[in-house]
Amino acid sequence: MPHFLDLKDFTKPQLRMMLDSAATRKQARKTLHKGMEDKDLPLKGKAIALVFERPSTRTRFSFEMAIRQLGGEVFTVSGAEMQLGRGETIADTARVVSRYVDCVMLRAKAHETLLEFASAATIPVINGLTNRTHPTQVLADVLTLEERKGDIARSRVAWIGDGNNVCASWIEAVGVLGGSLKIGAPESLRPHKDFLNWATQNKADVEVMTSPEQAVAHADCVVTDAWVSMHDDDIENRHNLLKPYQVNAALMKHAAKDALFMHCLPAHRNEEVTDEIMDGPHSVVFDEAENRLHAQKAILLSCFGLK
Ligand code: CP
Repeated sequence: MPHFLDLKDFTKPQLRMMLDSAATRKQARKTLHKGMEDKDLPLKGKAIALVFERPSTRTRFSFEMAIRQLGGEVFTVSGAEMQLGRGETIADTARVVSRYVDCVMLRAKAHETLLEFASAATIPVINGLTNRTHPTQVLADVLTLEERKGDIARSRVAWIGDGNNVCASWIEAVGVLGGSLKIGAPESLRPHKDFLNWATQNKADVEVMTSPEQAVAHADCVVTDAWVSMHDDDIENRHNLLKPYQVNAALMKHAAKDALFMHCLPAHRNEEVTDEIMDGPHSVVFDEAENRLHAQKAILLSCFGLK
């Protein structure tokens, strides 16, 4: 089943094809209003369900608009509205839903839920974020990076702060597509060893360090994320640990002069990033958010074996 579960499941040519498809479709929409359909409608007759066990703004809006613009039918449902968690197994839910729709995008609290759902489903399943990874986000991030800096394989990316699910998908992106990733994180918030071991096995240029200044040194792109993600509860401890990792003007001075600043959003302004950087010349955060729309189209098409 052609699921979209994690970036490491794809070859470099497959991910490059998705990035090219996203860029081509973005270009082709330049003169269209947002509510207008694309010039071709490859998802006509296809029904796609978006299931959210966690809240969302970008993932929901971008998938809904991507599907509408490609001519498909879409509906969104929260996990709480379904029988999930009220006794019906995840596998049975996947089998049932597979009888109604052609594809499901699932934002699951636990990565295991996503894997269980995908292994029982007879339709493609897309990972819309779990506690472990966020591959649809990072495909859009790579698209954003390449629009300004060219091939990621020639770029130096710095991840600053919590080694969370978005960081994990960045590790996989660099492992498949090339480029270098330096992660500046406190010892206790480094990415899970599974991702670092995978990076080592795949000879990915990924390095983890404690110093944010060292991680950012000469970077072409500096990326951060909220100090407390949706699945975290140790708020005070995280704030204390991550304060020295705030992306501010002093830290950005260590990066290349024309470095980009990225954040998947939502941002907690003046915690992980200052207003000055969010709203300043380095920032491409709203291009990143827009590119979710274009990247989702490429992901959906790949699930249906289309371009
Ligand atoms: N970045 C991201 O996934 O945003 P949402 O949680 O709003 O979908």
